Amino acid sequence: MIPNRTDPLPTDVLTRAASYARAWRGGTHPISPSASAAALRNRFCLPLTDKGIPGAEVIDALIAAAEPGLVGNTDPNFYAWVMGGSNLVGVAADWLTSAWGQNAAIYQASPAAAIAEEAVEAWLLELLDLPRESSVGFVGGATMAAFVGLAAARGEVLRRFGHDVEAEGLQGAPKVHIFLSDDAHVTNYAALRQLGFGEANFHKLSSDSAGLMRPADLANAMARSGGPKIVLAQAGHINSGGFEPLAEIAALARSHGAWMHVDGAFGLWARASAVRKGLTVGAELADSWSVDGHKWIQLPYESGFAIVRHRDAHRRAMQKTAGYLNCDEEDGRNPSSLTPGLSRRAQGFAAWAVLRSLGRRGVATLVDRHCAAAAHLADRVRRNDGLTVVNRVDLNQVVIGCRDRRNEHWKISALADRLNAERRLFVRPAQWKGRSVLRLSVISQNAGFENVEALADRIEEIWPTIEMRRPDTPACEDLLAQPAMGAVNS
Ligand SMILES: Cc1ncc(COP(=O)(O)O)c(C=O)c1O
Repeated sequence: MIPNRTDPLPTDVLTRAASYARAWRGGTHPISPSASAAALRNRFCLPLTDKGIPGAEVIDALIAAAEPGLVGNTDPNFYAWVMGGSNLVGVAADWLTSAWGQNAAIYQASPAAAIAEEAVEAWLLELLDLPRESSVGFVGGATMAAFVGLAAARGEVLRRFGHDVEAEGLQGAPKVHIFLSDDAHVTNYAALRQLGFGEANFHKLSSDSAGLMRPADLANAMARSGGPKIVLAQAGHINSGGFEPLAEIAALARSHGAWMHVDGAFGLWARASAVRKGLTVGAELADSWSVDGHKWIQLPYESGFAIVRHRDAHRRAMQKTAGYLNCDEEDGRNPSSLTPGLSRRAQGFAAWAVLRSLGRRGVATLVDRHCAAAAHLADRVRRNDGLTVVNRVDLNQVVIGCRDRRNEHWKISALADRLNAERRLFVRPAQWKGRSVLRLSVISQNAGFENVEALADRIEEIWPTIEMRRPDTPACEDLLAQPAMGAVNS
C-alpha cells in the first residue's frame, strides 16, 4: 500500500509570508538600507542549530533580519541602477512555481513548465519582432543569456572553419576574432572569458561619447582580421542608453561571415514600443540576442532570455543527453536543451503570467512612460546652472555631470548624498569616461512623470547650495561622506 502523508503541513508559513508581503508591498519604507553589514551579520550569521526551529518562527526571524537591509527596487523613486521592481502578478506566479516545486529540466519533469515556456517563447519573438524561427532559453539574466548566445556563436563560427568545438574543444581551434566596443557591458566580457576567450581574441573598438562602437572602426578591424568572427553589438548602453547602428553592423557582419550577437538587456524592449522601435532598426538581423525579464518588464529576479536564430547551433552548444533523462522531444521541448544548466526553477510560469497581464500594450506603456519621464527629467536638469546632461536621452537613462569639471567629483557626490539623505530617493554616482556623473535610470515599474518632477524639484533645491561653495575647497562632510563610486554594471 502506498502510504498517505500523515504529518501536518506547516501551511501557516505561507499565510504568514503572504500577509507580510501584502502589507510590505502596500506600505512605504525607507528606500535605502538602514542596517550596517555588521548589524545584518548579527541577525543572519547565527550558529546552525541541531534541532531546527519551527517554520513560522523562522519566517518571522527572516523578515526581522532582512528588512533593515533591503533596497527599494520596488519604489518608483529608485533610480540607482537599471533594475526592475518585481511585478506582483509575477511574484504571485513565482510563489506558485515554488509551491508546485517544479523542475524545468526536461519535458517529463514538468510538462506544464515546458509548454508555458513554449508559449512565452512565441510571445517574446512577436513582442520583440525577432525572427520567429528563433529559440529562447530561459536563464538567470542577461549575463547568462549572452553566455548562451555566444556559446552558440563560438560553435557555429568555428564549424564554418572546419572545427567542431563540441567534439574537439578549443584546443587547436582557429583563433576567433571578437569585435565589440571597449565600453560594452562588462558582463559580455565576462561571458566571453567563461567561454575560453581572452584579451588576445578581443578587438576592443574605441567607443564614442555614448559608449558605442563606430561602424567605420568595425569595418577596418574586420578587414584586417582573417578567420572566424563574432561581433557583439549593444542595444541600450548601460550608461547612455544608446544604440549602436545595428543595421550597418549587421551588414558588415554578414559580409564577413561573422555571427552577430546583440546585448539588449533592457534596450531591446524598445522594440515593443511603436514610438521607440526605430532606435533598434537592424537588431532583427542579428544571430542571437540577450535580454532581461527582470528589468523592463519587471519579472521577479533571475529572469533572462537567450534568443538564438539558429536552433541547431543553440541546441548543439547547450546539449546534454543521458539515457536516464529520456530526452526525446516528442511531446514538447526539453527546456534544458537551451540552457547551460539542467535543474531549474520553472521561470516560464511567471513570464507567462506577467506577459498575459501586461499584454502588448502594457509592455509598450512601461517603455514609453519611462522614456518620456527620462526626457522630461533631462529637460528639468538642464535648467540648473552648472549641471549638464551628458548623454542623448533617447531611452530611460539620464547621465548628469557638472560644467565645472575640476570639481565634478565632489559636487556630484555631494548632490547624490543630499538627494539620498532622507531615504525617500535612491540615486548613485558613478564613474564614466573619466567623469564623475550621477546616472539616473528611470525603469522602476511605477515610476512616471510625478516621480521625476519630485526628483527634479529636489535637485533644483539642493544644487545651488552645492554649486555656490567655493571651488576646490570641498566641505569636510562632503569628503567624509563620499561613498565609493558605484560600479557601473547594472
Ligand atoms: C546592457 C546590459 N547588459 C548586460 C547586463 C547584465 O544583466 P544581468 O545582471 O541580468 O546578468 C546588464 C545589467 O544591467 C545590462 O544593463
